Amino acid sequence: MSPDREFITGLPKAELHLHLEGTLEPELKLELARRNGVDIGQTSIDQIRDSYHFVDLTSFLAVYYPAMQVLVTEQDFHDLAIAYLRRAAADGIVHTEMFFDPQAHTDRGIPFATVIDGLWSAVQEAPALGVDASLIMCFLRDLSAESAMATLEASLPYKDRIIGVGLDSDERDNPPEKFTEVFARARQAGYRLTMHCDIDQPDSIDHIETVIHRIGVSRIDHGTNLVEDPALVEEVRDRGIGLTCCPMSNSFVTVGHTPTMKGEEIVQLLRAGVKVSLASDDPAYFGGYLVDNFVGLVERMDLSREEVIQLARNSLEISWLDAGRRTRLLDRLEDYVAR
Ligand code: HPA
Ligand code: ZN
Repeated sequence: MSPDREFITGLPKAELHLHLEGTLEPELKLELARRNGVDIGQTSIDQIRDSYHFVDLTSFLAVYYPAMQVLVTEQDFHDLAIAYLRRAAADGIVHTEMFFDPQAHTDRGIPFATVIDGLWSAVQEAPALGVDASLIMCFLRDLSAESAMATLEASLPYKDRIIGVGLDSDERDNPPEKFTEVFARARQAGYRLTMHCDIDQPDSIDHIETVIHRIGVSRIDHGTNLVEDPALVEEVRDRGIGLTCCPMSNSFVTVGHTPTMKGEEIVQLLRAGVKVSLASDDPAYFGGYLVDNFVGLVERMDLSREEVIQLARNSLEISWLDAGRRTRLLDRLEDYVAR
């Protein structure tokens, strides 16, 4: 029998692929637009929702980035993160590693300090909400490597507030090797490394190979196309490289808007022993938070109770928590399962 929503909600789990800017719900978007006197072209929740027509990654990003102009002050960034952290706690998330895109803000004149100070004050309040939280800084891959390097340098005074770096935005014509030097420098500075390998990109397998062999990531965001290369599947499994898969997002950004969630591929990788975890990516845009993603996949793929538990266990195991904290959270998971 497949586990139900209540069991999944109570399961202690980590969320490791979550773009804070993608948690901007229409309600908060309108409130911030009013607060900051920004004309976003829409004045009601319905109008905003009606503008969400995504057929692939590019068309999603075309709606996603312009919306960020409502984020102006330190308070705005704080409010955005706190709203997500409350939602995360309600979903039984005990630890979250949240992406943010500094260049999407600094490029429109918002100081790096405004972004990081606002987000960091929310991170500090997270334990009181029942969640551990940390920040991963993503570079926009459709901007230049020089811009990414300058952003990396700007982040160094705040190094103790950022656990790692990632790479997001439009993958087409922006392969991982474009950022080899930036990621080498980030590693030197003590950051952990992850990168997006988005769904069904023109050179998905090449990109996955590059991020493993040349960049040296410890996780891959999405990366589901790995399934096409059995030798690479074995390598990823043997090296314990984690995958952060996002079922509801997959349904939106795959060409032609397929409702399959890439469920077959995700489950095949899980059953092959790859450390697959689930995440919600941009929940305000893709229709659901983490528990919704679990429930969606369970219903579609008829996952067993043990498989659902393994997805949660993987999320803690591939997290960037320190070893002591990770062990305590894994113990909590095993206690919950035993009860
Ligand atoms: N892929 C690339 N860029 C993104 C994503 C994603 O899933 N979400 C937000 N920016
Ligand atoms: Zn993503």
